[in-house]
Amino acid sequence: MSDRYSKSRRLTQQSAQLIAGTASLLNDPPLVFVRAQGNRLWDADGNEYIDHHAAFASQLLGHNHPEVNLAVSTAIERGSSMMGSGVTEGEIQLAELIRAAVPSMERVQFASTGNDALTQAIRLSRAWTCREDIVVMLGGYNGWHNDASHAALPALELVGPRQVGEYQFATTLADFPADVRRHVHVINFNDLDSVEYILQRYPIACVITEPMLQNIGVIPPRPGYLAGLRKLCDEHGALLVFDEVRSGFRASFGGYQSIAGVTPDLSVFGKNLANGYPFGVVGGRGSVMALFDSPDPSWCVTLNGTFNPHPLTIAAALATLTILQREQDGVYQRLESLGGRLQKGLEMVFAELNVTATVSRMGAAFCVYFCDHVPVDWHDLMTSHDFALDRRYRRGLIERGIYLFPLPCKQGLLSAAHTREDINKMIEATREILSAEHPSVLRHLSAT
Ligand SMILES: Cc1ncc(COP(=O)(O)O)c(C=O)c1O
Repeated sequence: MSDRYSKSRRLTQQSAQLIAGTASLLNDPPLVFVRAQGNRLWDADGNEYIDHHAAFASQLLGHNHPEVNLAVSTAIERGSSMMGSGVTEGEIQLAELIRAAVPSMERVQFASTGNDALTQAIRLSRAWTCREDIVVMLGGYNGWHNDASHAALPALELVGPRQVGEYQFATTLADFPADVRRHVHVINFNDLDSVEYILQRYPIACVITEPMLQNIGVIPPRPGYLAGLRKLCDEHGALLVFDEVRSGFRASFGGYQSIAGVTPDLSVFGKNLANGYPFGVVGGRGSVMALFDSPDPSWCVTLNGTFNPHPLTIAAALATLTILQREQDGVYQRLESLGGRLQKGLEMVFAELNVTATVSRMGAAFCVYFCDHVPVDWHDLMTSHDFALDRRYRRGLIERGIYLFPLPCKQGLLSAAHTREDINKMIEATREILSAEHPSVLRHLSAT
């Protein structure tokens, strides 16, 4: 069958024979992208898309940014290679730039991915506190390593009703040692009572959270939540770890922590920091980070990784941070202004069509929830949001040349390469898609 996506479909089928896990790529229709530039993607069939996915929030300046690409190609021409021994000047410059932007990053260490850096943050916390347990958030995502890879999007029947305390560690059982589950406590975001409950009962090394929950859209912290976490961690001797892999350098130059005014003990950055190159950074209090240097083997935290840090990634990150530092006001004001225009436009369409939908946004990150409020946590989301309509909405956008990841609640993103025309197209497409919905769906929504 030949259709608009036939080449993409054929490539996806071919890859399924050779590459395990293709089914989990979740692209529906099964798009295969072959090129990207700025705010645009092209699939194998030549269809063009405005990109609101930004490679899972790793493209803040837009795809193939010329200055970032030039920095990488210059590094190659100058003979930079993966020497794998000793430090490089680029790393030192980058560490200085990061510390200047995010003062809590007194010392840093580089890794190849956010996942690797988060693993290090947990190890540092365990070594510092001499405790083994950790707290993570239901609906959050902090990498795929054993400790944090609880099912990020579990069915409500699996986790059970809302309660003060922890929820079942709802991950697949086949590939996780049972003992790992014992040490990981899953609670709802925005729920200080549950944090306190767990801290009182278990030897908690750290509480890990995105300061704004973004794996399920844009769920902001309630007023006082992050400050409350800080206080509880201090009272109980646990470390507070902010996962800023998504929010870092996207929400603001100083990370979401600079907006929230709450200082974590450790933070993890990645994604945006190298504008599309694989990267992760863990950093924070000098005394905790010093565990990487400890001569005492009973305290020392192991640090390995042939490709940590890769000189080409360092070149990309240096260029990205230099651009952000130089054009700080311009970039963040532009993202805020585009984001505001999008939010206002979508809200007008929802009002016009009498659709119950709410836009949640933090600067360049947005999410449309098909319910009458921004959910506060996983339970709220699962019981309020119309997932089926969300799926149809995303499919409709893709058919109109706008790529929002086709999984409900996945965050939409703007990059510095987006324009007002792109925003107008998104607003118009939303009007078209929702106008075509059967009125009973919209009425049902309005009634909820
Ligand atoms: C909040 C958050 N933390 C950590 C990670 C893991 O980062 P990486 O995919 O670079 O390993 C991700 C990736 O999606 C993320 O969104």
